[in-house]
Amino acid sequence: MLSTRFTKHSLVTEVHKTIQPYLSDQSFSIDATMGNGHDTLFLARHSHKVYAFDIQESAIKTTRQRLENNHCLDKVNLIHAGHEEMLKHVPVNKNFAAIIFNLGYLPHSDSAVITQEKSTIRALSAAISLLSTHGIISIMAYPGHTGGQTELQAIIHWCHDLHNKDFVITFIRSMQETTDSPRFFTIQPPTN
Ligand SMILES: C[S@@+](CC[C@H](N)C(=O)[O-])C[C@H]1O[C@@H](n2cnc3c(N)ncnc32)[C@H](O)[C@@H]1O
Repeated sequence: MLSTRFTKHSLVTEVHKTIQPYLSDQSFSIDATMGNGHDTLFLARHSHKVYAFDIQESAIKTTRQRLENNHCLDKVNLIHAGHEEMLKHVPVNKNFAAIIFNLGYLPHSDSAVITQEKSTIRALSAAISLLSTHGIISIMAYPGHTGGQTELQAIIHWCHDLHNKDFVITFIRSMQETTDSPRFFTIQPPTN
């Protein structure tokens, strides 16, 4: 199923509002792009265990500090590796409840270090194989920066393939959307 809904919230707020009902204190979750750790902290507050990935040492450092400040560090495995390698780093039998991809580059950092179309698609395919039958993947993509539009198009193409396999794809749009605005999708396994 493919559907679209509109939100009046910021898309960043909307990601957390959308994901939270899928989490409980028994849940395993993944932050595929830890960055400054906002999503990792959100997952840690609502999950039993989080696996968080980033290729930048600075992201690991900032996230560790944020988790420590909020007494959540013990719930998170901080993994200094690309998300395309996630199957090597997480227990594959855990049936993950939520997997968040917030693509692009780390704000206030080197904007040349961005997520890349090919590794993003590899990571998304790995994420599908780890998802619980009642779980959800969220993807925030940013067409406004160099390479972002190509990455977004690759994700849309990949979503169409999943749609053909009966996955549920939802496109959540901001009321203030412009050409360069972020795009937010969720993916859920077939319901039958
Ligand atoms: C928009 S930021 C993430 C924001 C973050 N979720 C937060 O809450 O602050 C994107 C992050 O993706 C990371 N990144 C880029 N390529 C990656 C890859 N192959 N695997 C994991 N992280 C990657 C960047 O280093 C950057 O920190």
